[in-house]
Amino acid sequence: MPLVTSTEMFKKAYEGGYAIGAFNVNNMEIIQGITEAGKELNAPLILQVSSGARKYANRTYLKKLVEAAVIETGLPIVLHLDHGDSFELCQSCIEDGFTSVMIDGSHLPYEENIKLTRQVVEYAHSKGVVVEGELGRLAGIEDKVNVSAEDASYTRPEEVQDFVTRTGVDSLAIAIGTSHGAYKFKPGQKPQLRFDILKEVSQRLPGFPIVLHGASSVMPEYVKIINEFGGKMPDAIGIPEDMLRQAASMAVCKINIDSDLRLAMTASIRKHFAEHPDHFDPRQYLGDARSNIKAVVEHKIKEVLGCADKA
Ligand code: G3H
Ligand code: 13P
Ligand code: ZN
Repeated sequence: MPLVTSTEMFKKAYEGGYAIGAFNVNNMEIIQGITEAGKELNAPLILQVSSGARKYANRTYLKKLVEAAVIETGLPIVLHLDHGDSFELCQSCIEDGFTSVMIDGSHLPYEENIKLTRQVVEYAHSKGVVVEGELGRLAGIEDKVNVSAEDASYTRPEEVQDFVTRTGVDSLAIAIGTSHGAYKFKPGQKPQLRFDILKEVSQRLPGFPIVLHGASSVMPEYVKIINEFGGKMPDAIGIPEDMLRQAASMAVCKINIDSDLRLAMTASIRKHFAEHPDHFDPRQYLGDARSNIKAVVEHKIKEVLGCADKA
């Protein structure tokens, strides 16, 4: 099976009340860990590449590694551009064979967001590629841009129908209180998501797939290991799993996870070197990291997303 678009996946996820995991990929071990978990649990997958990841690995390597994963697993896999910031970047990824792109115009004034998103949609659809747009602005760090909590803004439900109709996007990322990175809520702060906004958005867009960014739970077991083995991470609070399950049972069809993979990978490497200070073969510590990535993704598929056996 070649790379697929998310159209069928989202339709089934919407109807079935579950979500597809969209995992950020930066190197071979991350791709292998995610796709081995997907294979074992027969789950559809979205592998997403940020512009930073594409710069890090160069434009060919990640594409070829994801193609290898498709051959090895036989799973339906979407190759998606995460947070595309220009028409040119989206065009270049589409030329490379990505089956889905996000154009993130959420920082632009409303009409400019529509104009840029519409331009990407016209080009992408002419090539059979699907497009995710965004309305509302998440806090946190993405691709070196740090959006403060004050500059973040919830999605305005009264805008979504107009935005989707005028741009022609295939899915929509919304801001309901999640944020990027490992520091989503302050210590002592009670995590809260605006499910009222999600509900109103879905009422205004019946059957339309919604995307949740910034959806890592900042799994405490990995933060603990990092700090046990020499790390200095402040207390970190992520999105509680029951809230993610609730979102997946509603209109959310795609849940973005990057920070939890980073934490799992860093925890295993720190632990590995603490326990084996004499090791210097990258296959030993990167092998551990790959196993940890696989364990995290298995956990997400089974306990959060509900997409096991949906491939
Ligand atoms: O939302 C951003 C993702 O976590 C990707 O992060 O731009 O540092 O690759 P990155
Ligand atoms: P996290 O930082 O919560 O993992 O979010 C990742 C994301 O939204 C990628 O687009
Ligand atoms: Zn994001």
